Amino acid sequence: MKIGIFDSGLGGLIILRDIIKKLPQYYYIYLGDNARTPYGNRSQDVIYKFTEQAVDFLFKQDCQLIIIACNTASSEALRKIQQEWLPKNYPDRRVLGVIRPVVEEAAKVAKKRIGVIGTKGTIGSEAYVKEINKLNPSLEIIQKATPLLVSLVEEGWQKSDATKKILRTYLRPLKLSKIDTLILGCTHYPILYKEIQGIMGRRAKVLNSGEIVTNSLMDYLVRHPEIESKLDKNSKYEFLVTDISEHYQKLGGDWFGPDIKFQKINL
Ligand code: DGL
Repeated sequence: MKIGIFDSGLGGLIILRDIIKKLPQYYYIYLGDNARTPYGNRSQDVIYKFTEQAVDFLFKQDCQLIIIACNTASSEALRKIQQEWLPKNYPDRRVLGVIRPVVEEAAKVAKKRIGVIGTKGTIGSEAYVKEINKLNPSLEIIQKATPLLVSLVEEGWQKSDATKKILRTYLRPLKLSKIDTLILGCTHYPILYKEIQGIMGRRAKVLNSGEIVTNSLMDYLVRHPEIESKLDKNSKYEFLVTDISEHYQKLGGDWFGPDIKFQKINL
């Protein structure tokens, strides 16, 4: 059986690339809902509906385990999928998100104040705040929605002066609050890692979500041999998208590698 990786678009390829570096042996099937991306400004009802459709599709492709790489979908839909939908529909399969592993790492390294940046959906859901509070209620959390960053990264503008200016504006309140740890709560933000760390300076540790999610998956598979033993070990990778265009082909090449081949599906 396969491991499914779901994202609202192609940003999840950045996470999958990190996962494959350490765990190349499995059969991965990536699904990017780029016909309907971005999810970040949509309502919870719509994000839930889209996520349920995607997860159902991936299970029908014989996935044993799905990782929702999208922070917005992890924030707005994961809990209901895990608690209500999965037990009714696929009780022996698993769906994991990206928020919990990043929060576990943040709670380990943070001293006093954690900053979180993400889409409006992720920040509005307070999913990171709730998870951090569960692990360590004494940590202060300062959140900031940074919705322009996804478009800037997709335009390939990460090094531009305009992006640096927007980043400085977005990060200013977090810097002034003297956060010591910063969570990049969106698939696309690791592309801006250096720029963000440069602006935040040495006082704040910017967490690398791809690496954290990969380590957490490795750990999960060791702790769950009943899941791991069902996984195919043939190093096959499939890339499914809900729309194909030159723009998406270029993003796929930039973020995963030039040999990436997309196949279009309908959800
Ligand atoms: N994948 C989304 C996330 O991680 C960003 C793009 C979107 O808004 O759909 O939140």
